[in-house]
Amino acid sequence: MNNDFITEKNNSFFIEEVDIRILAEKYGTPLYIYSKQSIIHQISLLQEALSDINHLICFAVKSNSNLSILNLIKNAECGFDIVSGGELKRVIALGNYDGNVVFSGVGKSKDEIEYALEHNILAFNIESEPELMRLNSIAKKFAKKANISIRVNPNVDAKTHPYISTGLKDNKFGLDEKKAIELYSLAKTMDYINITGIDCHIGSQLTDLSPFQDTFIKLANMIDHLQTIGIELDHIDIGGGIGISYNDEKITPLNHYVSMIKKYLSKYNKKIILEPGRLIIGKAGILLTKVEYIKRSEHKNFIVVDAAMNDLMRPSLYGAHHNVINISNPKNGDEIFDIVGPICETGDFLAKDRQISASEDDLLAFMDAGAYGFSMSSNYNTRPKIAEILVDQTDFKLIRQRETFDDLIQHEIEFVNQKK
Ligand code: LLP
Repeated sequence: MNNDFITEKNNSFFIEEVDIRILAEKYGTPLYIYSKQSIIHQISLLQEALSDINHLICFAVKSNSNLSILNLIKNAECGFDIVSGGELKRVIALGNYDGNVVFSGVGKSKDEIEYALEHNILAFNIESEPELMRLNSIAKKFAKKANISIRVNPNVDAKTHPYISTGLKDNKFGLDEKKAIELYSLAKTMDYINITGIDCHIGSQLTDLSPFQDTFIKLANMIDHLQTIGIELDHIDIGGGIGISYNDEKITPLNHYVSMIKKYLSKYNKKIILEPGRLIIGKAGILLTKVEYIKRSEHKNFIVVDAAMNDLMRPSLYGAHHNVINISNPKNGDEIFDIVGPICETGDFLAKDRQISASEDDLLAFMDAGAYGFSMSSNYNTRPKIAEILVDQTDFKLIRQRETFDDLIQHEIEFVNQKK
């Protein structure tokens, strides 16, 4: 889980074999750049670690939903974890649809349920009784049986940022163990429901794996209990959540995680479904931005760059840390700066209190921005979404064009029509 795909040679920085400055010249900034080899490498590490377990990796589409990225993940024999009809449409748009999709989320609408039913997904991860009732009645209309897992909320502290913790009883996700068992019993009586699995996701960016252990123990207890009431499952979905190192955090090795799966869950001989997002794509991407101004005052120094919170929301929203490299001039310097964007909000910062040296027009790379970077970006302050590039050894291609002003206003039909 390192950044070997970014290297420095003779004062130039390369992603795989491509000089980052060339990409900035060709496509402008800000820019998301991803390494294909890094993505493939991460998937194969995970596949290898899981090689003696019957498993399916369902990539969490929300972490990076660019079609070219999804396509290469699909070609690496992964399925997908989706949380909206739109995400399912993306998966279907890839072609060769194989139904390897699990549908998570507390608010599945009627339209989304119909759409997913039509496309025979692997499982609806059910988050509440009303959702199960709704699914049963829609499935009846289609005269189809809907595959379900029930999402258990094990009340385990994931020890991550509260906004991305999902497995505590105060969180909106899943059902406690008692309620989940009741719902399984109800589901068993329903004509249009086919119970296929059990599901769990306790949070994201977990660096300590002990919450997973607690969760697996609870899942195992649940599965034992379900067997006693005659409910047999085909799969155990253990969610995503494995963290990556953004700021030298110590990450428990992947094989410890896999050993825990083996210790607590392998004995059931069920397919293990995993829903990783960040682990696969987080390290593979950078956000490249250009320095507009250096602003110094008695109290504080700022580097004002051309990217902003709308392009990379994680620092503003979670106080997340991304390492920064000055691609044009990598020496550290002795001044401390906040790195901020042009948006009119004090919360618009990308990094705080960094010791860095920078001048106007320098290129800065925000590292580890492949997950929840572009996918959480917005048009706030009428800022077009930025371009995305995929590098593959010496090749690179534009996988999303930079938006234009016309893209931004196209749905504001009254004025757009006048313009025509
Ligand atoms: N499965 C479910 C049901 C999820 O809700 C999530 C993430 C995942 C899988 C994938 O989790 P991962 O392996 O990527 O940790 N925007 C935040 C992260 C939000 C995660 C939401 N759910 C961030 O930038 O850190």
